[in-house]
Amino acid sequence: MTASLRRVGRLALLAAALPAGRATAQPLRQPPVLRNSTTAPHTVEVTLVAAPARLALLPGVTTDVFAYNGSIPGPTLEAREGDRLIVHFQNDLPEPTSIHWHGIHLPAAMDGGPLDPVPPGGSFDYDFRLLPGSAGTYWYHPHPHHRTGYQVAQGLFGALLVRAADDPLAQLPERLLILSDSRLDHHGALDHRHGPVEEANGREGNLLLVNGQTSPTLALRPGEVQRWRIVNASAARYYRLTLPGHPFLHVGSDGGLFERAVERAEVLLAPSERVELLVRGTGSPGNRTLLQSLPYDRYTPQTRPADWERTRELMTVEYSRERAATPAIPAVLRPVPRLDPARATGKRLMVLFQGFINGRLFDANRVDEVAALGATEIWELENPLAMDHPFHLHGFQFQVLDRNGVPEPFPAWKDTVNVPKGESVRFVVQYTDYPGKWMYHCHILDHEDHGMMGILEVREGGA
Ligand code: C2O
Ligand code: CU
Ligand code: CU
Repeated sequence: MTASLRRVGRLALLAAALPAGRATAQPLRQPPVLRNSTTAPHTVEVTLVAAPARLALLPGVTTDVFAYNGSIPGPTLEAREGDRLIVHFQNDLPEPTSIHWHGIHLPAAMDGGPLDPVPPGGSFDYDFRLLPGSAGTYWYHPHPHHRTGYQVAQGLFGALLVRAADDPLAQLPERLLILSDSRLDHHGALDHRHGPVEEANGREGNLLLVNGQTSPTLALRPGEVQRWRIVNASAARYYRLTLPGHPFLHVGSDGGLFERAVERAEVLLAPSERVELLVRGTGSPGNRTLLQSLPYDRYTPQTRPADWERTRELMTVEYSRERAATPAIPAVLRPVPRLDPARATGKRLMVLFQGFINGRLFDANRVDEVAALGATEIWELENPLAMDHPFHLHGFQFQVLDRNGVPEPFPAWKDTVNVPKGESVRFVVQYTDYPGKWMYHCHILDHEDHGMMGILEVREGGA
């Protein structure tokens, strides 16, 4: 038997073993946290290198990938509100790339968008301050035009956690869960082939990964309350998360904590969105439950995958023997001041068509929208067609006002909002500072790469 035939055989065995999960069940790993290399106060200084690597995405199968500092997901960056973050970035990839700090409010020159690629062999120092009030779960990924989907699929994504000095949930054990999906061919190589259906839907992989692992096991102690920070780093896959028997306490979204926790049986996470959930260990030693993704129909009838109605299992939650004391959860987590839509001086309408925004394709040399620094505005997103689009604005966190005319129950900071097919969403945003050019786009990466993106220029001294 040739080596490649043996490999195919092993992959087939692995694939057969995977749905059951048990055969590969490993404890859930946490991505490595990058060590701060400076002792300067209120400063986090780190180095990130993007480079080709060979890693085992499936146990026993090596795959050629791209990785930040050799790991998928990339290392976690941790800093505090008010810290200066300095990232010495080195591009050892054979193609241009950038690092975009998804959701962070920062100077436009540090945003790592498609206008600022770092050439192969080149380097760039990202240097910005994490502002007070910005504590939350963010993530970083490449953003070169036309290649974002490819590079993310190759393995380039990681988390950036901004912590508050007075975090009301600091006493809870914390787990980071980065959700991604991949597809391997019969040789264990990443499969980037695209058919017309995937062009329409965006690429979904058949391997569902949590922190780069298939069906890992997370240990939960009876009585304990864990804080899960979840990042959807998938290019196109939506996750409708549920943990049977364990309603979540939803405590935060893209831009950090809510004012109060809300109980939810399930939570929908569109590409690039984040949630913070509290999971209560109400079971007994030895009990098991599964973190699942329930079916969600984001598709047009013509391109809906045959297996879209399948519930997917992401991770096993297994109760350990030792009990833990159940902590009290503060009634108020932090104040979230409401951005007043009555103060809005402008309105922007964004009509989302398949591949276009307001009938236009992205042009790096065109400014689509101009706004005045300091202004508060309302954006109205309309999706007249038959597929959902997760809409993302760079640089500024916003507050959703209503979805399809239904007022949002409480203010929360967001940088991405899903606009379901046939529906509309309105949000309010204030361009508090940082003039410059800011991207807005659909975060289904195939849509973005094909030009479903525009530029907002925030100008000092008026529009
Ligand atoms: Cu996650 Cu334009 O970004
Ligand atoms: Cu972004
Ligand atoms: Cu889209």
